[in-house]
Amino acid sequence: MKKKKISILFVCLGNICRSPSAETIMRKLVSDSGLSEQIEIDSAGTMGYHEGELPDSRMRMHGARRGYSLDSRSRPVCMDDFYEFDYILGMDDRNVADLKRKAPDATTLRKIHRMTDFSKNQLHDHVPDPYYGGASSFELVLDILEDACKGLLEEIETRL
Ligand code: 4NP
Repeated sequence: MKKKKISILFVCLGNICRSPSAETIMRKLVSDSGLSEQIEIDSAGTMGYHEGELPDSRMRMHGARRGYSLDSRSRPVCMDDFYEFDYILGMDDRNVADLKRKAPDATTLRKIHRMTDFSKNQLHDHVPDPYYGGASSFELVLDILEDACKGLLEEIETRL
């Protein structure tokens, strides 16, 4: 029997801090659960300003300290994403609003959620933009994402 596949797109503003971190954290969780064949993961930004760039060096450094290798390349969200992905997850209200504005129809609109809707223990209602912040901002991003990715995986496992 063909196994069911579910795809997830993580989205932030620049696709160089939050969403590449979510992508890498989720990839590790999925791999550790033996579900890499069934769950596809990618990330993108609502703006294309950093297209082609590796994640921000500060984000890479904080990620590396927790064992994550952040090596995706920034790309902007495109129209195909709305059709191809099952879950489209924005990091904050601005990301979610931008995604909803770009969504081509009601079916794709329903795929859009806030990342923190899947939080288990963290009480933050969004993943704050760390770009103009200090070290603690980058650590907070990782704390929130590690927690929400666990919740997301639990939800997805019920649908496989
Ligand atoms: P991200 O962070 O959306 O988490 O990738 C940012 C990256 C770049 C900028 C803002 C936020 N920027 O203004 O260039």
